[in-house]
Amino acid sequence: MASSTPKVVVTGACGQIGSELVPELRKRYGKENVMATDIKEPPPELREDGPFEWLDVTSLEEVGRLLKKYKADIIYHLAAILSAKGEQNPNLAWKVNMIGTYNILEAARELGLNQVFIPSSIAVFGPETPKIMTPQETILLPKTIYGITKVAGELLGEYYVRRFGLDVRGCRYPGIISYRTPPGGGTTDYAVAIFHEAIKYKRYICFLKEDTALPMMYMPDCLKAAIQLMEADRSRLKHHTNFNVAAMSFSPGELAAEIKKHIPEFEIVYEPDERQSIAETWPRSIDDSAAREEWGWQPDYDLPRMVEDMIKNLKPQF
Ligand code: NAD
Ligand code: SER
Repeated sequence: MASSTPKVVVTGACGQIGSELVPELRKRYGKENVMATDIKEPPPELREDGPFEWLDVTSLEEVGRLLKKYKADIIYHLAAILSAKGEQNPNLAWKVNMIGTYNILEAARELGLNQVFIPSSIAVFGPETPKIMTPQETILLPKTIYGITKVAGELLGEYYVRRFGLDVRGCRYPGIISYRTPPGGGTTDYAVAIFHEAIKYKRYICFLKEDTALPMMYMPDCLKAAIQLMEADRSRLKHHTNFNVAAMSFSPGELAAEIKKHIPEFEIVYEPDERQSIAETWPRSIDDSAAREEWGWQPDYDLPRMVEDMIKNLKPQF
């Protein structure tokens, strides 16, 4: 390591996960040691609390220049196009997710960075994958461009581990639920939008069917997973870039019933759109025993705890 406190760069830092991971990393490593980057205007907190630079991950030259200038040791690579947005623009999803990920790995290898975190997703699975308690090692035949780029990203990361000894780590996040920054265009976004509409209008039109269960995770667990995996003892890891991680699984109907316990007047109607066909290719629940064994993964939030916390934090905003 270049110094005792590592220098960290986060790509896609203005997104749903980055906007909360950056403050968490700044608490840990010091504000000046965590550089947030994106192609989007940052929220004031990100810019005012520490360094921010514009960075388009599709340019290898720009990525290399920034990592070098900042003398980065660790990179959290969050820039991506998610599932629903990817289906609207597959070309963009390929460029950002594939070329962007290659650029990050290649620049990290060339500059000798210590560690790279690249999140994967439940989108790596497909209709042929076992849907209940999906195993760590299983069939990966995704049907979305997003899923295809995520499988390739896992494999490319693993290649850099084996071929070049680069310390690349990643987990397959389920749908992430949070109240600070809206999600960026995924199939699981309904599980965030439902809270806003329930509090504002007591009514939500859901784009998935009532019984479409998917794996989900609350933001504090998402941040904990990233940091815990990155701080895990490398010698204990048998997997590197593709850990299954789980926290809770529920359908829109089950989530609506839990919200009704807090907002009894709440009503939900179901008008499935094209995102339904994506959700139907994904698992209903995940076996995360490899993550538990290799780096001690354990979530803190289940469905009732998450719903209570979301409503408590969102209510004052409206
Ligand atoms: P998001 O869509 O909220 O944010 C992505 C960010 O990337 C945005 O701020 C966007 O401006 C930025 N970006 C897009 N193109 C870029 C480019 N060319 N260069 C630099 N930045 C660019 O996504 P998120 O939810 O924060 O996801 C972060 C990571 O976690 C992604 O890899 C995603 O696949 C993964 N993930 C997220 C979820 C989830 O539910 N949020 C679930 C599984 C995996
Ligand atoms: N939440 C993400 C999506 O729906 C899963 O990676 O695209």
